[in-house]
Amino acid sequence: MPIDLVELLRTRHGENYALHEKHLNHQLGRVLKTIGFDRFYVRGEGCYLYDAEGERYLDFLSGFGVYALGRAHPRVKAALHDAIDLDLPNMVQMDCALLPGLLAEQLVARCPEEINRVFFTNSGAEAIESAIKFARQATQRPRILFAEHAFHGLTTGALALNGGAEFREGFGQLLPGCESVPFGDIAALRQELAKGDVAAFIAEPIQGKGVYEATPQYWKQAQALCRKHQTLLVMDEVQTGLGRTGKFFCFEHWDLSPDIITVAKALSGGFIPLGAVLTTDRIFTSVYSSLEKALKHSSTFGRNQLAMVAGLATLAAFDDERIVERARVNGLAFEVALAPLVERYEMFHAVRGKGLMIGLEFGEPESRALRRRYHALERLRPAIFSQMLVVPLFHRHRILTQVAADNVNIIKLLPPLICGQAEIDYFVNALDDVLSDAHSGTGLVFEFGRTMVKGATRRTGRARPDAPFLPRGQETPANGTGDGASHGADAAAAVVAVAP
Ligand SMILES: Cc1ncc(COP(=O)(O)O)c(C=O)c1O
Repeated sequence: MPIDLVELLRTRHGENYALHEKHLNHQLGRVLKTIGFDRFYVRGEGCYLYDAEGERYLDFLSGFGVYALGRAHPRVKAALHDAIDLDLPNMVQMDCALLPGLLAEQLVARCPEEINRVFFTNSGAEAIESAIKFARQATQRPRILFAEHAFHGLTTGALALNGGAEFREGFGQLLPGCESVPFGDIAALRQELAKGDVAAFIAEPIQGKGVYEATPQYWKQAQALCRKHQTLLVMDEVQTGLGRTGKFFCFEHWDLSPDIITVAKALSGGFIPLGAVLTTDRIFTSVYSSLEKALKHSSTFGRNQLAMVAGLATLAAFDDERIVERARVNGLAFEVALAPLVERYEMFHAVRGKGLMIGLEFGEPESRALRRRYHALERLRPAIFSQMLVVPLFHRHRILTQVAADNVNIIKLLPPLICGQAEIDYFVNALDDVLSDAHSGTGLVFEFGRTMVKGATRRTGRARPDAPFLPRGQETPANGTGDGASHGADAAAAVVAVAP
C-alpha cells in the first residue's frame, strides 16, 4: 500500500522536535527552541513559508541560497511531475543519458568560452571536493590556497579550505597542503603562488561568511598571477552563482575567466540536490585520460534524471522570468530603500554585497549614551547586537534572516531572487521598527531578556501540541505581531550556530 502522505503528516503533526531530539541532531532543536524559531512549517510558496497556525513568514534565508526561484516554482514542479510519470530510465550507470548532456549544454552556454566540460555532483561540498581532485590531477601539484574566512562546505576536503576554526576543530588532520591567505591581499597571494607548487587558488567571489568583498583590481591581479604561476583559479559560485549577485556568475562583475567553476544550491530549483563542476577540456582530460579511467571520478547519484530535470527547468525559468536582471534591479532597490536607515541609525554602518546577496553591517554608535549601552550589550557576548536584531525580526515581523558569521555584527540577507518591492518595503519597515527600538534602548532589550528566559525553560517535545495541521490553502496569511520570544547570550550563540 502506498503511504498516505497527507494522513501521515496529519497524524504525526507536532512530533517534529521530539523526533529530532530522539533520532537526529538534537542540538539543532535545542538551538531553535532557545531562540524561539521552533515553528511547525507546513508549506512554502514563492518568498513565503507558512506554519501550522497559518502564520506567514518572509523567507530571506532562502534555504541558504537554494530558493532563488522561490519555493514550489510551478514550472519546475510540473517538469518533475512529468519526469516521474515518464518512468525515465534513471541511473542505469552503464549509459550516457540525454538529460545530463542537455543540462551540461545549457550550463556551458552560460560560461566563458574555454569552459566546456561538466561534472555533476549532489552538493556544493562535493563540487569542491571534485575541484580539488581535478586541480591536483591537472597540475600534479600538492598545494591548495584558500582565503581566510572562506566557507566551501563541510566534507573533509572542503573543510580543509574552511576559514573557521569552529568548524575544523576535533576532526584531526585534514587534507595536507591546504593553506589560507588573507582575502583581498594580493601581496600574500603573490608570495604563495611564487613558490610554484600551488595547484589551485579556490575562492568565493564574495565571501558568504560576512559578505566580504575584494576589489576588482585584486581579482584581475589574482587571475593574472594564477596564470603566470600556472595555478588554476577556482571560483566557488555555490552561493553567488545563478544570478544571486545580479550576474549569472559573480566573477562576471570583474570579467574573470576562471579555470574551474563550482555551482550547486539554486541549480536544484529547490527540489533535487544538484551541483556541478564546470571546467576546461584540458583539466577534464587529465582526469579521464584513458578508457581505464572512465570512472576515475564519479558518484552513484551524479547525473540522476530528476536532478537533471530540476536543473533544466530551473535554467529555463531563469531565462523566461529574467531572474538575473531582476536580482540586479532589486538589489539596487534594496540599496535605495536601506540608505535612509543607514543615515538615521548610528549603529547601522553600511550595506554591503551585490545584487541580492546583502550584508547589513552594524557597529559602535557615535553618541556617548548609546555607545555605553552598546558596549554593555557587547560585553555579554561579542557581536550580540546583530543577533539581537535577527530574533525580533523573526518574532515581531515573521522575517527569517541570519547573522552572517560568528563574532561579526553583520546580518546577511539572501532573499529569493523573485522578490519584489513589496518584500523589500516590508523588510525595510521591519528593520526600521527593530532598530528604532534598539536606539530607544528600552523595549527590545527587555524583550530579548524576557524571551531568553522563556526559551531556556521551554521543555523538549512539542512546543505547540494543539496547533492543527492545515492542508494547503486553508491557512490565513498573517503578518502577525509576535509576543517576542527567547534570547540572550546563549540564544545569540545559537543564532550564529546555525548560520553557514
Ligand atoms: C560558497 C559555498 N561553497 C560550498 C558550500 C557547500 O555546499 P553544500 O552545503 O551544498 O555542501 C556552500 C554552502 O553554504 C557555500 O556557501
